[in-house]
Amino acid sequence: MNVLLEADQIQRRIAELAAQIEGDYPPDEEVHLVGVLKGGFVFMADLVRAMSARVTLDFIAVSSYQQSTKSSGEVRLIKDVDTRLEGRHVIIVEDIVDTGLTLTYLQDILRARAPRTLRTACLLSKPSRRLVDVKVDYIGFTIEDKFVIGYGLDFAEKYRNLPHIAAMDEA
Ligand code: IMP
Ligand code: MG
Repeated sequence: MNVLLEADQIQRRIAELAAQIEGDYPPDEEVHLVGVLKGGFVFMADLVRAMSARVTLDFIAVSSYQQSTKSSGEVRLIKDVDTRLEGRHVIIVEDIVDTGLTLTYLQDILRARAPRTLRTACLLSKPSRRLVDVKVDYIGFTIEDKFVIGYGLDFAEKYRNLPHIAAMDEA
């Protein structure tokens, strides 16, 4: 396992992203973050704690059916948000954008709820793997096409608890 991003490097970047987000919305208006379970939970926890008291949050859960050979693009909603998004400033908070299929699906279903604004924040981006051109407004780090674990990201449900992000060893 080789470490790509150290814990303190991630924290510094999150502080920058939080400052950028804070500056992008009028100070007196609420910002509602929708975290994507499960991978986005650690990023979400650190991002909201770097933001001001006007932030509110919720979670959504999806599962993607992806065979190893092809990305079917089938995404299934496992858990919806609990609160209405209409008229609110909504930011989707996701761990990683890979093919872009998951985020495209999420943006489509959340946009249909008529939020006042809809943006997306992703800790990691693997642009070389993109199949659809999805707009991500806030990106923490752009990485190479390597399978990564830690800081919320799993391999077979393990390693989500690592404080850093590491690349899995090539088989
Ligand atoms: P996309 O729909 O292909 O963009 O896939 C996004 C989802 O695939 C993410 O939410 C992750 O759950 C998962 N994923 C993509 N790349 C990685 C990786 O390198 N490590 C762990 N999970 C990944
Ligand atoms: Mg995920």
